[in-house]
Parts: sequence; C-alpha cells; structure tokens
Amino acid sequence: MPLVTSKEMLVYARENGFAVGAFNAYNMEMVQAIIEAAEEENAPVIVQISEGAIAYGGEKSFAALIKVLAEEVTVPVVCHLDHGVNFFTVIKALKAGFTSLMFDGSSLTFEENIEKTKKIAEIAHAAGIPLEGEIGKIPDAAKGPLSPEEVKKYLTTPEEALEFYEKTGVDSLAISVGSAHRMKVQSVQLDIDRIVRIKEKVKIPLVLHGASGVMDESLVQAVKAGISKVNFATELNKAFTYALRKELSNNPDLVDVRKYGATARENVKKTVKEKIQLLNATNKAPDILKIINKRSFTRENKGGATIE
Ligand code: G3H
Ligand code: ZN
Repeated sequence: MPLVTSKEMLVYARENGFAVGAFNAYNMEMVQAIIEAAEEENAPVIVQISEGAIAYGGEKSFAALIKVLAEEVTVPVVCHLDHGVNFFTVIKALKAGFTSLMFDGSSLTFEENIEKTKKIAEIAHAAGIPLEGEIGKIPDAAKGPLSPEEVKKYLTTPEEALEFYEKTGVDSLAISVGSAHRMKVQSVQLDIDRIVRIKEKVKIPLVLHGASGVMDESLVQAVKAGISKVNFATELNKAFTYALRKELSNNPDLVDVRKYGATARENVKKTVKEKIQLLNATNKAPDILKIINKRSFTRENKGGATIE
C-alpha cells in the first residue's frame, strides 16, 4: 500500500497499549528486512532514516526505496526522518517524500528548542506531515555506559514536557527516561514512574529513543506505562554486522555480495520481528488500516460525516 504518515498509528498505539517499532536503516538490505518483518508480523512499522544515513545514501534514494517496498506489502509503512537537527535536512526530507519528520532541538536552550520546533511543526503540518520533537535529552553512550548521575542530568520533567507540547504543537514527543543512544549491551532499566507522570500530562504519543540498551522487561513495562513509539538502531547494526562477520570468517573465499548480504538481511529481519512482538504490535495492522481508510474517505468527501 502507499506510504502512510505516523499520525494515526501512533495515536492508536497510545490508546491501545502497544508501541510501533521504529527501525533505523542504513542500506537496502536493512530496509527490505524491516518491511518484510512487519509484513510477516502483520504490524505497522516505521522505517527511520537519520541525518547520518542521508549523508551515506541520500534522502531521495531511501525515500524511493521505502515507497516502492511499502507498495508491495499490506501493512502500513512510514518513511520517517530520525533526529533532524538541521532545518534544511528536515525540508530536504519533506521534499523527498518522507511521511513523518523529527526535529531534534535538544541541544538548544529550552526557549530556542520551542521556537524552532514550533516553526518546523507549522511547515510540516502545512504539508500534511506530522512532526516529532524532543525535550530533555537522550544522551550518547557510544564511548561506554553512563553513570546514573550523568543520565539524571538529561531526564525530561513532566512540567517541561507539557509546556513544550503546548507551545510547539508537535504530534509526538521524544522524552528522556533513562535510556541512552548507541549502547551495545542491554543493561538499562527505565524510569517507568516518570513515563506514567508524563503521559498523564501530555496527551500525544510518547517516543522512546535508545531502546537497544534497554532490558526487555523494562521495555515491556515502558510500553504498558505509555510509550507509543520505540526506536532501535544499534540492535539492527549489530544483527547485520555480526551475521556478516560470521559468514565471511566461515567462508574466507566468499566474494558474492548477494550471499553474505542475504545472511545479514535475514538476521536483521529476525531481530525486527522479535522487537515487534516485544512491543505487542503483532497483528495491529488491520485496525490501523481501518482508521486510515476511514479518515481518507472522510477527507475526500469534504466535511461529510465519517463513514464507517
Ligand atoms: O533514534 C534512534 C534511536 O534512538 C536508536 O537508538 O541505537 O540506541 O537503538 P539505539
Ligand atoms: Zn534517537
């Protein structure tokens, strides 16, 4: 089916106790693996392209690939810009046909973050595309685990989340609740009580970043507490690279890119399927499709009553 925006699926997830998996892709095989996994799980899915991935592969190539593969499956697929920190990247992604955007102003002051996010939300909404913002900051643990004191510095408070949401008009909100980006080992327990308190105040879907380093049971609790979108990148990089490394070291004479590419792709697909199951998103595609179809029917019949 054609690409969809992230709007309806995240609102539905928020109301129905599951989360949509948002998976970062860096090459064709990863995009294929993510979309095939979602189709097999009958689940909605978000394929995310970061600024780094755009620098590596180009926003137009990724948008075209995701669009074509989405049209071959029956589940709803979103093409999302992950961590757009640069205004021009967000506009480039919008022009390339991305159906969901993120502006990450978390390194700015609170006021600057609000001002820029609000402006970008207005532009995105004028084009019919939802925007994810970030308040608090998800730290980077690429150089090693962070101390609990360091993690605390970045946590989102319910009060700032509410003010940010009200002043910017974002459609979903990335919050800092104990995770960190680029952790290679699962060891983090999230601040579940903080998620509950933020969800009580902020009436839009909440997003968890840095999920690769979070313990499975904590992730399950976070979804029950009110997280509606969960981002995985490092887990997929690990799945791809470890399978590739094993295949090449077991077969030193192998030179056919398709052979080891397929092995790596299969391992990413397996990982994506496991994550979708963990987020309780399996078999959630049909209900979301009903909502999306109903909304577009109503829109096409301008102002008419909603048709069941
Ligand atoms: O935006 C992407 C994510 O937050 C992924 O983080 O690499 O720690 O899974 P991760
Ligand atoms: Zn992130």
